Amino acid sequence: MDANLGGSAEAISASELAEIGLRYEVDGAIATITLDRPDKRNAQTFATWSALARIGEHIPDQVRIVVVKGEGPSFSAGIDLRMFTPEGVPGQGSFVSAASLGETTFERRIADAQRGFLWLRRPDIVSIAAVHGHAIGAGFQLALACDLRVVAEDVKFCMKEPALGLVPDLTGTKPLVELVGLPRAIELCLTARVVGAEEAVRLGLAELAVPAGELAQAVQDLAGALLATDRGAATATKRLLQGALGRSLEEQAIAERREQIVRIRTLFASG
Ligand code: ACO
Repeated sequence: MDANLGGSAEAISASELAEIGLRYEVDGAIATITLDRPDKRNAQTFATWSALARIGEHIPDQVRIVVVKGEGPSFSAGIDLRMFTPEGVPGQGSFVSAASLGETTFERRIADAQRGFLWLRRPDIVSIAAVHGHAIGAGFQLALACDLRVVAEDVKFCMKEPALGLVPDLTGTKPLVELVGLPRAIELCLTARVVGAEEAVRLGLAELAVPAGELAQAVQDLAGALLATDRGAATATKRLLQGALGRSLEEQAIAERREQIVRIRTLFASG
């Protein structure tokens, strides 16, 4: 396994990642990001999110699938609860210190965190969250940032932010509404109730639920099936599908024509 970040000089080192509680491995066309702070249930910090953003910036060209998973009993118990204390997370501040930031700096700080999540929707990759155990708050949003979710039967999704006085701001609200619809999204967020595997599949939050011991294989199988499709066609199709909800039927038909012309020219143009 090639445990590097694509050979870029600006890449983040494995030891730096380990300190943050992350692992990152590239094996051919598949990159795997592992939340690796199991003793703290893979709680996430600003350092986690900026490392995720840097991983995204340096993904090698050959990568087509990005798997996001968690080590230990949980996928992720969400934001590090030390953020709620006056002391905060060493070197990263706290909500108390953030509260006194100016508007522009504060917005930039949240935007920086969101960058760790946004790249997972890039059309040229397919991101798969392999989710088991708790996926709470930022953990749920990280799973929602991925294109696809394969869950273990013990999964427990919970959008805890409103119960803590916050809003989900790590890019999770849009995919949640798109997946489950507005009324269900309101109900899930404002009650912060737990959604298990069977309901997650029924609501469209997960593509597939499998016994915990079969999660890794199920993700591997899905990745293999995705990789069997031509990359150019896969990228163009994902781009089309992503744009579909924001376009009228006529606009979407135009977008289909334009993508298809590129495909056919790429495949069949002579000389
Ligand atoms: N931040 C920091 N530490 C955490 C977090 C967290 N979010 N979640 C768990 N831990 C730590 C615990 O403090 C404990 O540490 P310790 O062994 O040093 O005492 C360790 O992880 C294990 O946690 P337990 O609670 O003992 O594990 P258990 O399996 O019983 O419960 C559960 C897991 C349900 C996830 C529970 O830990 C929990 O409710 N965590 C907080 C969830 C939360 O509210 N997250 C914030 C959501 S909002 C957002 O993400 C923006």
